[in-house]
Amino acid sequence: MPEDSYEPKIIGFLCNWCSYAGADGAGMARRKQPPNVKIIRVPCSGRVSPELVLRTFMQGADGVMVLGCHIGDCHYGNGNHRTAKRFPVYHRLMDYMGIEKERLWVQWVSASEGQLFAEAVTQFTERLRQMPPMRGKLTTVPSPD
Ligand code: FES
Repeated sequence: MPEDSYEPKIIGFLCNWCSYAGADGAGMARRKQPPNVKIIRVPCSGRVSPELVLRTFMQGADGVMVLGCHIGDCHYGNGNHRTAKRFPVYHRLMDYMGIEKERLWVQWVSASEGQLFAEAVTQFTERLRQMPPMRGKLTTVPSPD
């Protein structure tokens, strides 16, 4: 595939209770957005570990989105607080592995914010189109030991 036809592959981890419903709402309302995101529904954004993010890059993603409920709205109380606290950890690990921090997008999107979801997908896809593909940049994940 020629380099000029590169389309970023994005994996979106969306919490079941807010962001997944927001994405669904974007689809139902036929909001315009690029088709680059493959959605994985997770119970809560707090379940998305830094290791999972690295493994997702290792398996070929050019970008990763972690979307959850707004602070105060997490179905499990404080799962998204955990996500917010992990944000610098994600970035430190990505830096260590040589992955640009711009390849990760973390945002709160509620069930009624389909427009916000579509805008996030559009902006993130545009950002990644300006960056080279990840292909082959990351082949191993550091051991937790
Ligand atoms: Fe949505 Fe926890 S249930 S972030």
